[in-house]
Amino acid sequence: MTVEIRIQDDDCLDISGKFDVLDEDGNAYPHHGKLRLCRCGASKTKPYCDDTHVEINFESKVRA
Ligand code: FES
Repeated sequence: MTVEIRIQDDDCLDISGKFDVLDEDGNAYPHHGKLRLCRCGASKTKPYCDDTHVEINFESKVRA
């Protein structure tokens, strides 16, 4: 299964597929489906997005 990482304008990283999130110690947290990771740095539930980017008017438009 392919893993897709979508970098959304002014928003989080939207990841879909089957993958593991690894912490600093290498502990794996398996995921299957969709996951939203914070890229604004303001989430209170890092590494996950909690929509705080909307409150802080996060702006970032990047293209691969
Ligand atoms: S990108 Fe959503 S809270 Fe940071």
